[in-house]
Amino acid sequence: MIADPAAFILSNTRLQSLPHAPEITLWLADEITPLWRLTEEELGELGLPPPFWAFAWAGGQGLARWLIDNPHEVAGRRVLDFAAGSGLVGIAAMKAGAASVLCADIDPFCAAAVALNAQANQVSLDFTDANLLDAPPPDVAVICAGDVFYERPMAESVLAWLTVAADRGARVLVGDPLRTYFPRSGFDLLAEYEVPTTRELEDSAVKRTRVWALATGR
Ligand SMILES: C[S@@+](CC[C@H](N)C(=O)[O-])C[C@H]1O[C@@H](n2cnc3c(N)ncnc32)[C@H](O)[C@@H]1O
Repeated sequence: MIADPAAFILSNTRLQSLPHAPEITLWLADEITPLWRLTEEELGELGLPPPFWAFAWAGGQGLARWLIDNPHEVAGRRVLDFAAGSGLVGIAAMKAGAASVLCADIDPFCAAAVALNAQANQVSLDFTDANLLDAPPPDVAVICAGDVFYERPMAESVLAWLTVAADRGARVLVGDPLRTYFPRSGFDLLAEYEVPTTRELEDSAVKRTRVWALATGR
């Protein structure tokens, strides 16, 4: 485990406003590969997942934009930002008036990244690094998931878990830039955006990104 993740984040990122939700500023990296290498050196492990927390993924940016523009979706409600990364979706939910937001992510840097980003945006966010997929979904009114359909096994487990939550009455909102494992059915389309991203991360400078609600009564 790294001794001081906050210091690591502050020395390898800079505060930047989001292209698609400029109301939010985050500690973000400009290049992924050097940071990825440094992370592996710091943790003394190889084959780690990328430092997702250091980037604002297109799905999260789209969902953040949607929440800021549609505050009634979360105002006064308890919200879970599942697979929070930097915490951008949780920050958007708090800015939209959520009663509270729990950010969940299993990456060991996310607790510090979410705390620093919450502070930068003057909102309060709770955080857990527990793998929430191992248990039934928590009792919240809204579950948000930004950009979670990029790998098949994860996409399958997340979809099953979100479906349980929706069947129990939670509003499930997803932001997705047409990733390969996004399920093509069972969702209602809420919005479509052209989200600026970087060629560093994606195959194009702009990603068409959709915001969806998991349909109930499927
Ligand atoms: C592409 S990033 C999206 C981050 C953020 N939502 C955004 O849109 O910028 C995917 C995130 O999923 C997280 N993740 C993967 N498996 C997870 C799990 N079982 N529980 C919580 N987070 C998970 C990763 O650590 C990573 O931060």
